[in-house]
Amino acid sequence: MNFEIQKLSLSQAVQATSDALIVLWPSLSVPHPLAHDPVSRWVATAIEQGDFELKSGAVLTLYHQPGITPRYLVVACTAENQAGQIRSALQAAWHAIKAAKIKRVSLHVVGDATPQGLQLALTSLADASYSYTTTLSKPKARTLKQVQVSCDNPSASLNQAVNHAQALVAGVEFAKEWANRPANHATPTLLAQAAKSVATGRAFKCEVLGPKEVAKLGMGAFLAVAQGSAEPLRFIVMRYNGAAASQAPVVLVGKGITFDTGGISIKPAAEMDEMKYDMGGAASVLGVFKALGELKPAINVVGLIPATENMPDGMAVKPGDVVTSMSGQTIEILNTDAEGRLVLCDALTYAERFKPQSVIDIATLTGACVIALGAVRTGLFSSHDGLAYQLQQAGETSGDTCWRMPLDDDYAEGLKSRFADVANVAGRAAGSVTAAKFLERFAKSFTWAHLDIAGTAWRSGAAKGATGRPVGLLLQYLTSLAASAAAAPLKATAKAPAKALKPLAKEAKTGGKTKVRAARKT
Ligand code: BES
Ligand code: MN
Ligand code: ZN
Repeated sequence: MNFEIQKLSLSQAVQATSDALIVLWPSLSVPHPLAHDPVSRWVATAIEQGDFELKSGAVLTLYHQPGITPRYLVVACTAENQAGQIRSALQAAWHAIKAAKIKRVSLHVVGDATPQGLQLALTSLADASYSYTTTLSKPKARTLKQVQVSCDNPSASLNQAVNHAQALVAGVEFAKEWANRPANHATPTLLAQAAKSVATGRAFKCEVLGPKEVAKLGMGAFLAVAQGSAEPLRFIVMRYNGAAASQAPVVLVGKGITFDTGGISIKPAAEMDEMKYDMGGAASVLGVFKALGELKPAINVVGLIPATENMPDGMAVKPGDVVTSMSGQTIEILNTDAEGRLVLCDALTYAERFKPQSVIDIATLTGACVIALGAVRTGLFSSHDGLAYQLQQAGETSGDTCWRMPLDDDYAEGLKSRFADVANVAGRAAGSVTAAKFLERFAKSFTWAHLDIAGTAWRSGAAKGATGRPVGLLLQYLTSLAASAAAAPLKATAKAPAKALKPLAKEAKTGGKTKVRAARKT
């Protein structure tokens, strides 16, 4: 979708040649009944008649009005910069016109627009008008292609917000697409192809490792999850180099379980279909890279995606099996359904080689996080106050919010094992925290945060589907870092990464059951 911004008064905006004009009306701005422009006069009349209230989410729709060029005119009231209210106002506005084939929308902001508010309005409109089409034979594709923003005073920061929103929407929709796809249309191999398609252009690199290379690296925990699946695993390494090679990168690690049956500790049948979004973390990393390609901020970012299915099978890992992770720590796999932490721990160890300034893993990790925080805020875990603060701030600014959870060492008690260095599950209590405590053991050598998106990456119910979160939070974090690095250049802290990765070996490329299993023997 394309966003533009221009300077127009409301009287000029009604002359726009678009299909619909959405006017965002701040609740504190009382219209004058004798105002010059017709919209203000209608709003004043509607208020007087008791048909419209200056209350957030209130919507007034008009069709084919004299003096208004667009077919639809929707006035939507928004309270000053309340994220939830801007979102619901835009949803209501889109709902009022969505039956019509709308190609172009004009969005006029009355009064003083803020960059944050405008970005949220644009991303909300994109979200409301999104529709998934890939696996439908007669898809109802979205007609909306362009949003023309106007206001009285389009400052430089508003211009920037519009550019940022356009890149963000591209990233969010890429993430939605991949998380929505059924598992047979989003295998580890297809996910790797998607990564390659995003990482085109001079600033990007993308390397894909197969079972052989992963075995050679000693990623015993990742291999254990993959060994029950007929689909070969992929380890995706993406790089975006927007800054000098001397600048330490941010590493994003996305959980890429393309389908989670639970393995031998199999899940119940009801709603198991939703486990196709267990690669939501991976999808968000792909989405961030998509947005980086459009915004080109001066920063270095590495994306790591351990991608595999988690399946039950004669070859599958069994409860009680002990495996050796890349870090050397042995793990007793008491529950094969706690597979996310197993693929992530090896990816975290791999992240060390980049000498990162920070490492953030993103994962649909626990049902317990859904119980704790619901679909509103992502669970944030970090023992580093500075990074936790930056991520919380990025959440508030973007409206893609998170909430910090504890990491006291006492929570790790239940992970003790008699047969290995650590068990992969503790009891039911504080399940999202014990999962984070497990990951923390593999993140000791860098500044680390973990985002549990089990509740926020997916919307259940009638409008079920991927949300594209937390691409907004991550992109905000990265662009803020780039902006502050530009203001005060950091001293080089790290060397360029070690030797280049070998390309994917031939056998691994062909995939297939025998090849995956061969990897298990090593
Ligand atoms: N992918 C699930 C977590 C999940 C649950 C994501 C619901 C989205 C919605 C994860 O692999 C899992 O199965 N976790 C277990 C952990 C348990 C076995 C300790 C869980 O949450 O039940
Ligand atoms: Mn699981
Ligand atoms: Zn899972």
